[in-house]
Amino acid sequence: MRKSFESAPVGAISRRSLLATGLAVGAGAGLGPLGRAAAAFGDTSSEALTSGDAAILRFLSAAEILETDLWQQYNELGGIQDSEVPGGSGSPRYVAALRKLDLDMPQYIHDNTEDEFTHFTFINAYLESRGGEAVNLDRFRTLPSSKATGAQQIGRLTNLMELTVDTTWWTRYRSRTGNPDFGDKFPPAVPGLSEGRFPAIPRSDKDLKPREHIQAIANTAGFHFGTIEQGGTSLYPSLAQRVSDPEVLRVLLSIGPTEAMHFQTWHDKAGNAPEVTDPTNGLAFPSLNAPPFGGEDFQTNLIMPEPTIFLKRRFPACSIIRPTKTDGAAMGAVKALTADGLFIGHSKEFFDALKELATAADAATPQA
Ligand SMILES: [Fe+2]
Ligand SMILES: [Fe+2]
Repeated sequence: MRKSFESAPVGAISRRSLLATGLAVGAGAGLGPLGRAAAAFGDTSSEALTSGDAAILRFLSAAEILETDLWQQYNELGGIQDSEVPGGSGSPRYVAALRKLDLDMPQYIHDNTEDEFTHFTFINAYLESRGGEAVNLDRFRTLPSSKATGAQQIGRLTNLMELTVDTTWWTRYRSRTGNPDFGDKFPPAVPGLSEGRFPAIPRSDKDLKPREHIQAIANTAGFHFGTIEQGGTSLYPSLAQRVSDPEVLRVLLSIGPTEAMHFQTWHDKAGNAPEVTDPTNGLAFPSLNAPPFGGEDFQTNLIMPEPTIFLKRRFPACSIIRPTKTDGAAMGAVKALTADGLFIGHSKEFFDALKELATAADAATPQA
C-alpha cells in the first residue's frame, strides 16, 4: 500500500532518516542535503518523501514525459527505430537533410530519445517507491502526428510543426559579461526562427521538396534540439537547490548533467547547419562565421561555455550553467516550452494541469 507523502508532518522525515543512520538529531540538523548525503550512505530510502520533494519530482517527471514525446517524434522520422526506441520507420529525405549537420545525427537522436524515456520512467518508479504518485499525461495525448511517411499515427503531447525557436542560448553561453540570472538578454543565433511558426519535422511528404525547404526544416530541428536540452541543463540545478532529501538530490544531480551532455552535442551540431533560405517562407539560416555574425558571440566552434559573472559581479568570472536561479524555475520552464509553440492545440485543462505541477514544485522549500 502506498504511503501518502501529504500526511507526513514537515520535518519528521529527515529526522527519522538521521536517526536511522545512527546520528543524533542535534548533530545532523544543521547540515544541508549535501552534508547529510555523506552520512546517509547505504540502502536507498523507502521513507515517504516530503511534499516539496514529491512536487519537484512530479514536475520533472511531467517535463521528461513531454520531452520524451517530442524526441519520439524526431526519432520516428529522423532517428534510428529499433527495439530500444520503437515506433516509426524514418523519412529518408529528412534524414539526409539532418545528416548535413552530422552523419551521426540519427544515432544521436535515437540516444537522446532513449535517455528521455529512461528519465521519466525512473522518476515515476522512484516517486512510487517513496510513497509518491507517478505522473501520467496520457489523457492529453490529443495533438496530431505528422502525416509524412515514417511517422506513427497516434495522439501526441507536443507539436513540432509550428515552432518558434528561441536560439538565444547560442550567445548566452558565449557571453563573458552577461548572465540571465542578472536580467541580461542575449541576441538569437537565427533571428528568423523567433519570428514565425516553423515545422521542425516534415508535416507531410509535401514538405520533402524542394531541397532548401526540407533542409530548413532539418536546420530548425538542429537548433531546437539545443533549445530543449539547454532548458533541461538549467532546470535540474535550479530545482536541486530546493530539495530536502539527500537521495532526491542525488537523483537530480545524476540526471541533470546528462541534459548538459545532450546540449553540448546539439550545440556542436547546430553550428554545422548549412546556410540556406527556405523558398516557401523566407526563413533564413545565415553563416554564423561571417559578418554580420562571426566573432566570439557566433563562431561555430566556440561550443564550450565562456566564463561569465556568477552570484556577484565582483566574484571572478566562472564557466557555469546559466540560468540556475531557483525562484520560479518550474514555471519558467513551462513558459519557455509554451513560447516554443510545443503546446499549440492543447486544451485549457492541459495548461492548468501543467501549471498546477509547476506551482507546487516552485512552492517547495528545503526542510532541515
Ligand atoms: Fe531528460
Ligand atoms: Fe533532455
